[in-house]
Amino acid sequence: MDGLIKNLTLKDIEQVLEIQKACYHEDYWESREKFESILQLYPSGCYGLWCEKPAGYLFSHPWRIGEYVPLDTPIKELPENADCLYVHDIAVLPEFRGKGAGSALFSRALDVARRFRAIELVAVQHSENFWKKLGFREVKDIVYGGRKAKLMLLQ
Ligand SMILES: CC(C)(COP(=O)(O)OP(=O)(O)OC[C@H]1O[C@@H](n2cnc3c(N)ncnc32)[C@H](O)[C@@H]1OP(=O)(O)O)[C@@H](O)C(=O)NCCC(=O)NCCS
Repeated sequence: MDGLIKNLTLKDIEQVLEIQKACYHEDYWESREKFESILQLYPSGCYGLWCEKPAGYLFSHPWRIGEYVPLDTPIKELPENADCLYVHDIAVLPEFRGKGAGSALFSRALDVARRFRAIELVAVQHSENFWKKLGFREVKDIVYGGRKAKLMLLQ
């Protein structure tokens, strides 16, 4: 994978929103406030990928195993008894996919995840096989953003 992965700052949110629109069905689009809330509460879990242009991102934050964050609800505070890193969102622009960019973004999250018991996420848009290749297992079927999704865990 060519490109550079760096921690995101608030100045990058505009580009994050553009990538989100290119990567997700509109039922999943989230507001600027949601992304900013994660970045402000847990900047060490938020990364951007720069190729010849901004190409992808990953947002993660501490959370509780078995619970998930509703779509488009800004986070007010992190739980005191957090026991997992929750990968809230990963996206890579279509033209940069299939070359390890998604896996490289996830590897960065693994560094921060070492202090937790597990990594959890909600797999949408039929992405569960991507996550299974990274070691995740399915926990249960849920409805997220009005659509079928899977809660997944890596321990
Ligand atoms: C999911 C996503 C980030 C993967 O990015 P990527 O840069 O293509 O990922 P990688 O190149 O690291 O792929 C790693 C492996 O997973 C596979 N893979 C990638 N996306 C996949 C998907 N959606 N479903 C199944 N397998 C997938 C790749 O083929 C590759 O397999 P290989 O190692 O056998 O070659 C990207 O497809 C994306 O942005 N999708 C839209 C947003 C989205 O749905 N995000 C997931 C939300 S939970």
